[in-house]
Amino acid sequence: MSEIEAIYLKDYKKPAFSIESVNLEFDLYEEFAIVTNIMKMNKVDGNEKTLELHSTDLELVELYINDLKLKESRYIISKESLSVLNVPSEFTLKVVNKIYPQNNTELEGLYKSGSIFCTQNEPEGFRSITPYLDRPDVMSVFTTTVIADKESYPVLLSNGNKVDTKDRVDKRRSVTWHDPHPKPSYLFALVAGDLGSITDEFTTASGSNVELNIYCDKGNESKCYHAMKSLKEAMLWDEQKYGREYDLDIYNIVAVDSFNMGAMENKGLNIFNSAYVLADEDSASDANFMGIQSVIAHEYFHNWTGNRITCRDWFQLTLKEGLTVFRDQCFSADLNSAEVQRIDDVKSLRERQFVEDASPTAHPIQPKSYISMNNFYTSTVYEKGAEVIRMIHTLLGEENYRKATDLYFKSFDGQAVTTDDFLWAMQEASGIDLSAFKTWYHQSGTPKLKVEESFSDGVYKLTLTQVIPNAVDSTKQNPYYYPLKMGLLDESGEEILAQTLVVSKEREEFIFQNLKSKPILSINRAFSAPIIVEQKSAEYAFLMKYDSDSFVKYESAQNFAVETIESMMRGQEINSSFVEAYGHLLDLDIDLSYKALLLELPSVSTLMQRQDEVDFEPIYEAKEKLAKHLAVTFEDKVMKLYVDNHFPNVSAIDSLNMGKRSLKNRALKILAPLETPAIGKLTQAQYNESLSMSDRVVALDILENTFSDFALEALGDFYSKYKDQTLVMNKYFSILSASHREGVLKRVIELQNDEVYDEKVPNLVRSLIGVFARNYKYFHAKDASGYKFVADKIIEIDKINPQMASGLAGAFKIYSRINTLNKELMRVELQRILNTKELSKNSFEIISKILK
Ligand code: ARG
Ligand code: ZN
Repeated sequence: MSEIEAIYLKDYKKPAFSIESVNLEFDLYEEFAIVTNIMKMNKVDGNEKTLELHSTDLELVELYINDLKLKESRYIISKESLSVLNVPSEFTLKVVNKIYPQNNTELEGLYKSGSIFCTQNEPEGFRSITPYLDRPDVMSVFTTTVIADKESYPVLLSNGNKVDTKDRVDKRRSVTWHDPHPKPSYLFALVAGDLGSITDEFTTASGSNVELNIYCDKGNESKCYHAMKSLKEAMLWDEQKYGREYDLDIYNIVAVDSFNMGAMENKGLNIFNSAYVLADEDSASDANFMGIQSVIAHEYFHNWTGNRITCRDWFQLTLKEGLTVFRDQCFSADLNSAEVQRIDDVKSLRERQFVEDASPTAHPIQPKSYISMNNFYTSTVYEKGAEVIRMIHTLLGEENYRKATDLYFKSFDGQAVTTDDFLWAMQEASGIDLSAFKTWYHQSGTPKLKVEESFSDGVYKLTLTQVIPNAVDSTKQNPYYYPLKMGLLDESGEEILAQTLVVSKEREEFIFQNLKSKPILSINRAFSAPIIVEQKSAEYAFLMKYDSDSFVKYESAQNFAVETIESMMRGQEINSSFVEAYGHLLDLDIDLSYKALLLELPSVSTLMQRQDEVDFEPIYEAKEKLAKHLAVTFEDKVMKLYVDNHFPNVSAIDSLNMGKRSLKNRALKILAPLETPAIGKLTQAQYNESLSMSDRVVALDILENTFSDFALEALGDFYSKYKDQTLVMNKYFSILSASHREGVLKRVIELQNDEVYDEKVPNLVRSLIGVFARNYKYFHAKDASGYKFVADKIIEIDKINPQMASGLAGAFKIYSRINTLNKELMRVELQRILNTKELSKNSFEIISKILK
């Protein structure tokens, strides 16, 4: 594996050439495409004689400098580059090359999703389309002509504005697009297909009209309206919250079925995984509608945070991603329930990012090196990155934060910058010194905070000690600087004070005077810092009842449940005060979705993260026992919640109805462990009668896991209704792969032969194989069958789509912390993958880090 080399941030060098303009022509055919690329180039570094362009597997047709065809002695082609020797200081380079989008299963560069030509170039896909300085700090003005058969590809799109359409010979047609905004190649996009679309418009604050189009497979047009509505909401929000207007006459979104990620913010031509565009009330769950709203907004927000101001190099990825995730989280909080949004965001951070941060693949939000950049589109860079921006927002306050983002946009518009540039603007506009804050960008692992309290003579002392994990290579790391929101309550539950402490030292004390009695501490309110709080004996039941902070209320319920389950794992009886406190939650008259969250028991992943040596069986056993006990104890109350909120004939997606559904479905999940025929019937009736997809999938999942007698019929019904809608079939596969019933692995293996399943479509692979790899019960089976199966799949899929393979490999990240028996079983499989001939860089990087 010696040819696999890492790239280091410390080696960054400015580009030696600039590209003033680029003119691209794509001649698309059924077997291949011819790309003609004409670049006006200038030497930036006068000493540089050779122009080295990034180029993957180049099949060169012709090469010219200033219209002079170059002889073979003037250039060198390698696997990853095209070097042109002895170039003048100013010249036009013309490259003609041949590519095969139809054979491109990696879904990077130009490829086909079904019958649609589309692109995905971030981070380094463009170099497989044409030789280029494929790095984000080389920005240029693009003009693109797409030529294809008129009948098969009536829609031809690229970035910017449409400037020309021409009929050509042989029933072919060309369309030319011009994007006036200089941009890096990773934002280049092209689409050609026979697409349906919906159209709308938006008038910006300063009065320009923008044409909005969403393109999809014909027949799906009616499923695009929620995405369109979300786009307009996002455009308005960015004007109001950040003063940012859209800057082209047209905004196009295209939905494709084969896409490695969620979506891509290409300038004026976003390309989306269809899962984040298409929805209607029959086929999409409430979570799908929310997901679409947030991803549509995320990509739109990138227009300013990502496109107008981009990254100098890929180590800066969090500059655009952390910031843009923070922006989309705030957008969703403003448009929906803010308290629920915050808890959902924290939940997903802890389930994914905390796990990553405790694993051998942990990295700072600004990594120091990578082998495959594709491996760094992680929850650390994205979600922890968003938490870091959120902390800055908290430290600065809303008003200063807005001044600072204004300054950021003003200072760096049109440039490719670094996270230091961003921090400079935050600091400059607010006058707040953020130098101590930088550790968040350069260190990995989740910081812990040990909390100790004492009280005497009216003085309450809070002693905070930071426990900082070492980096992956065992080097010691420094203390963090962060805002810690907290409050103190008196015995009657009244709030005595609420404030934001700034934690900066390894150990420090905060003193609160003139208190009548020992106060009750409410700490890390709103999850103001992405840390783990360690506190002996907190007053969970009290905080669940009285705290004004919706996050701490939730957290206390979670922590109380964790404590209870862990004591059961140690053989103790069920803690009756927890059961009592849980009962009070059932009576609360609060936002329904929030209530549904409060009633959820901690996930297996949460419990597993707290174990020194992870083993799943004891967790399941204790959690199931507690769930059963709660169901028996509160059956009547929970049934009433169910009945009061069950409206099977309503599928509307307003927040009230979504709230009712989430609470009602929570109630059904609480009741399921009773396993009585009555609950089985109730679940079956919900499946049969409800108009909402959320209701149907919850019912189906419960039937599958708990009432196998009823499951077959419902599953059969679901399959026959939806087998033509791949997006819905993803739900079907997920339920079956996540199941705890007997024989799941065998079934997953068989499902691969289902006519709906396609190993080349990432969504399907994720919902069948990816979900199985997170089915703790069967993935970690003590006969290694789960590991063997997933390892086989990784090896097989690595040859088709390395990004997908290394994504699946993520399931093994728990390796270093799992119990010795499982660890040995895993090691054998990981080694087997590593020994595979021609393993991709992507998979090599992940697996070798895990095994180290
Ligand atoms: N920039 C895109 C987004 O966050 C994601 C692109 C991911 N690309 C990749 N190769 N992993 O919206
Ligand atoms: Zn993004």
